[in-house]
Amino acid sequence: MKNKQQITTMSYDAFYKRSIVDPEGFWKEQTNALEWYIPPKTILSEDQNGYPQWFADGELNICYLTIDKHIQDGYGDQIAFIYDSPVTQTIRKYTFNEVKTEVAKLAGGLTSLGITKGDTAVIYMPMIPQVAFAMLACARLGVTHSVVFGGFAPHELAIRIDDSRPKAIITASSGIEVDRLIAYKPLVDEAIAMAAYKPEKVIIFNRKLGAKIPFQEYDVDYEKLVSQSEEVPCVPLQSTHPLYILYTSGTTGKPKGIVRDTGGYATALKFSMQHIYDVKEGETFWAASDMGWAVGHSYILYGPLLNRNTTVIFEGKPIRTPDASTYWRVMADHKVSVMFTAPTAIRAIKKEDPEGLFIKNYDLSNLRIQFLAGERCDVATLEWYRDHVPVPVIDHWWQTESGWPMIANMMGVEYLPVKPGSAGKAVTGYQIVIFDENGKELPPNEEGYVVIKLPLPPGTMLGLWEDEIRFKAGYLTRFPGYYFSGDGGYKDKDDYIYITGRVDDVINVAGHRLSTAEMEEIVASHNAVAECAVIGINDALKGQIPLALAVIKSGDDTEHFQLEYEVVQLVREKIGAVASLRNVVIVQRLPKTRSGKILRKLLRNIVDGEKYQIPSTIDDETIIGEVTEAFKNYGIGVFK
Ligand code: COA
Ligand code: AMP
Repeated sequence: MKNKQQITTMSYDAFYKRSIVDPEGFWKEQTNALEWYIPPKTILSEDQNGYPQWFADGELNICYLTIDKHIQDGYGDQIAFIYDSPVTQTIRKYTFNEVKTEVAKLAGGLTSLGITKGDTAVIYMPMIPQVAFAMLACARLGVTHSVVFGGFAPHELAIRIDDSRPKAIITASSGIEVDRLIAYKPLVDEAIAMAAYKPEKVIIFNRKLGAKIPFQEYDVDYEKLVSQSEEVPCVPLQSTHPLYILYTSGTTGKPKGIVRDTGGYATALKFSMQHIYDVKEGETFWAASDMGWAVGHSYILYGPLLNRNTTVIFEGKPIRTPDASTYWRVMADHKVSVMFTAPTAIRAIKKEDPEGLFIKNYDLSNLRIQFLAGERCDVATLEWYRDHVPVPVIDHWWQTESGWPMIANMMGVEYLPVKPGSAGKAVTGYQIVIFDENGKELPPNEEGYVVIKLPLPPGTMLGLWEDEIRFKAGYLTRFPGYYFSGDGGYKDKDDYIYITGRVDDVINVAGHRLSTAEMEEIVASHNAVAECAVIGINDALKGQIPLALAVIKSGDDTEHFQLEYEVVQLVREKIGAVASLRNVVIVQRLPKTRSGKILRKLLRNIVDGEKYQIPSTIDDETIIGEVTEAFKNYGIGVFK
């Protein structure tokens, strides 16, 4: 059965208004774009805690919708995945038929190991097709997957194992970072040894690249499992069934397990592919990210496949694999129509090839739109891209929590004029408001907290994994009736929204979301450190990078270079190299309020050379001179 496509002929304003005035009617209509086992009758309801949920009595299976359905509709020979790996010099294409066979057999293998609906499984893999097969096999059975970014260290993996309590971990023998082989199996074994909870099985896909795979009792060979198993069908699931848990950094050392539903998510993603990304069924869509992030889940895997797009699984970087031409080569080779990446990737390319000379060597005539997200898009990056590639460049804003864009230029509805520096206007279903400290709406151009009136549209978070209290405290209680995004920003008189950055201790390093609170805990654990603060400072390439300030214990004679080396190693060991902490500044004291709160924003403003007001609550103003002097001595930030 082919489903109706809901392409609107309305203007953005009219379409947006409809979504706000009649959310139930609006989203019910969008559910028609999917094939449900049982179409929902209840459109919007509340869970036992009064939090809105969508399509509660509908039943579907997202693996069916992304794979089997396209085969039934006659598209089995269409390419579903293009695996393009400059680091192994491989390009391999998989049709929907091939993906279905692999996924259905892997799902059969999981079943044979006793992993069934209601269980959880952690997936810790590099950017290879098997990561997608593993996610889809879980989705086929109703096993809630939790993909952990391959760049995270065993300690981070252990935290996620303890929280999500997976019956199995699915992994691969190794990842490749530019030219360095990273053996995954020892990291998985180390994480399991650290974790209090022990998974029953570890399923390993051997890439045969030479990495050691130390044997443990719980090991299962991926290829053997698939080859010995029969295909199994999709399990019908309730719309609210948790498709996945995806951990993201919060304001404490413990990451937050964002839980995504099935039906609301599928509806929202399908809608977004057409109305935001304006990509037609059958075209090639490429999101250059990692499956371990929200972008990977929504726009490498589920979104494009729901829309019957060919999607690119890219194992490489914008530079150094082998050079700054790679993105253009991938776009040309695979006839990419719509592309999505983070501004930091474009900054990296621009730095290597400022004149855009590589671009001229490739045929980019298929490319229609370039989307950017993951961090604030600086105007220079947007303009550089526009100057070199003649397509609309669209910034848009979203979070792991939302799962799909909340602010954008809805290209499939109406291409609105782009205002550089703004992420665009509110996406249908999101009533975005700028509040002051007391929850009073601010007038145009005044900066405040970015909040969203409840209910959020379908596809956004269902809650935090087994942590109702933190979910409410983190998102819902600050401004009752509104979702608190954690970002600051303002709206102009035309309702364009400008995101100015986080208002909490979360930082964004090369499009990776990290917690400074977590890094502080690690820095503080060093023997020589009496007290510390970690702040995010401006960085021309990565947007932000962390900087640690440490007060040394009295009597300790650790030299600066030694402390810096050891602290940097400690953070790499506990979080992963991806944290990108490189500098530690030793100070005599940290600036604090009289009640003892460290004034991190003040520190940031000083090191970034921004104007600041000395808070009236500061304990001792003379510390400002001391820390400024320290930044100068170490040549940090604007004092370089
Ligand atoms: N496994 C193991 N290590 C990893 C890793 C992974 N999956 N990903 C990154 N790392 C390591 C890197 O090797 C590097 O280690 P090093 O300090 O020993 O050199 C460190 O973590 C930092 O990596 P990265 O942030 O990738 O920095 P980089 O300097 O290697 O590259 C960019 C800079 C801008 C090219 C790169 O960050 C990039 O491609 N960013 C785009 C990110 C993106 O698309 N994010 C998705 C959000 S939409
Ligand atoms: P993540 O959950 O990893 O996707 O990170 C979400 C955070 O990244 C947001 O809360 C913002 O702080 C930031 N972010 C994402 N996209 C944008 C954007 N287009 N403009 C500004 N900030 C962004």
